[in-house]
Amino acid sequence: MKRLTILGSTGSIGTSALQVIAACPEEFSVQYLTAGSNAELLIQQALQFQPQAVAIRDEKQYKLIASELRSKNIQVLIGQEGIEEIAGAQDIDLVLNAIAGTAGLVPTYLALQQGKDVALANKESLVMAGEIIKEICARTGAKLLPVDSEHSAIWQCLLGESHQAIKRLILTGSGGPFRQLSLSQFEQIKPADALRHPVWTMGKKITVDSATLMNKGLEIIEAHWLFEIPATQIEVIIHPQSIIHSMVEFCDDSIKAQLGLPDMRLPIQFALNYPHRLALAWEQLDLVKIGNLTFESPDMTKFPALRLAYAALERGGTAPAILNVVNEQAVGAFLRQEIKFTQIPALVEKALSLLPIKAHPDLSAILEIEILARDFVAREINSQERNAIA
Ligand SMILES: NC(=O)c1ccc[n+]([C@@H]2O[C@H](COP(=O)([O-])OP(=O)(O)OC[C@H]3O[C@@H](n4cnc5c(N)ncnc54)[C@H](OP(=O)(O)O)[C@@H]3O)[C@@H](O)[C@H]2O)c1
Repeated sequence: MKRLTILGSTGSIGTSALQVIAACPEEFSVQYLTAGSNAELLIQQALQFQPQAVAIRDEKQYKLIASELRSKNIQVLIGQEGIEEIAGAQDIDLVLNAIAGTAGLVPTYLALQQGKDVALANKESLVMAGEIIKEICARTGAKLLPVDSEHSAIWQCLLGESHQAIKRLILTGSGGPFRQLSLSQFEQIKPADALRHPVWTMGKKITVDSATLMNKGLEIIEAHWLFEIPATQIEVIIHPQSIIHSMVEFCDDSIKAQLGLPDMRLPIQFALNYPHRLALAWEQLDLVKIGNLTFESPDMTKFPALRLAYAALERGGTAPAILNVVNEQAVGAFLRQEIKFTQIPALVEKALSLLPIKAHPDLSAILEIEILARDFVAREINSQERNAIA
């Protein structure tokens, strides 16, 4: 039985993972759960899965959770420290990191440092600190198991293949809700429009990233680190049906693809139970019912985030971390209606041209960027508001 930690158990990936675990109780035991602020759901999950401890980031929720769980012999930890203590726990076999955004980086780092394998949904960890993470994996022997559906697909296509035989990684993407919208209408996009993804149901941050195609940009960087392939050999193709989750082209021009319904439980179960597949009874893919699979090139003018991600990866050092944290801050500002949709990539581009970029950063240099990025986005919004008043 695999002993698991689920970081971010109350989110979209976390709850899907718990569905997989509930469907095969003889394979997994849940030892630790963590949440950001959703105390009610965390309590419910703890009562169902009986972990030894839970942690919640929002310290105000402590009393409520402790009053519900103490009598059940479940320890309750709080704040960033509580989450970090759980991320670094020794008595487990695998950590699933499903925390959204930059907050996932330190937990990934701590788990790998303990030599624990990490099923990684939190792509931001690798985008920000790919070099550091690969170095810890090499030192401790810990493995990264991709959870992102595209990277899971590539991983599955590469099983049994040699690295030298890879010609190209082909990441597919649905194209998001604005694939067919003309650029002239982008200025009017509201948060509710961006949160309406045509295929996937996900957390807010990744849903907006999918609308700007920054999500695909982050995935290019993630693929680079996971599979050790240069940016020039990673291509993005828009595939609106989201049935082919990604492909690999080999030196003999043969292309392998992995297909499945757009359901994150599939890549989650593959990562949790690797190297064995689980026979779980979710809805089956019916290709005849789907009928057509179509493909198109991404429009880099409408979606500059893709170009920015390639450029940040080429630049290296702290550039991908700057791209990631400025994007995250800008997405937050867009959701609060402080900036327009089109300003998300514009702010990222400006930050990449203005903020200092360091080569081979350590973890503290990466973490400093978060503060720098927050200040940068706040300053930009303030100056925009001042200009609007003047
Ligand atoms: N959703 C998908 O289909 C999908 C697909 C591929 C990759 N991913 C990646 O998986 C990760 C999670 O995505 P998601 O869609 O599941 O996000 P989500 O629904 O927003 O869930 C995020 C989880 O992280 C917790 N959290 C948020 N801020 C935190 C903080 N500062 N400290 C500790 N915990 C915090 C949340 O807790 P509360 O809810 O309790 O506040 C929740 O449990 C992201 O990196 C995303 O890119 C997601």
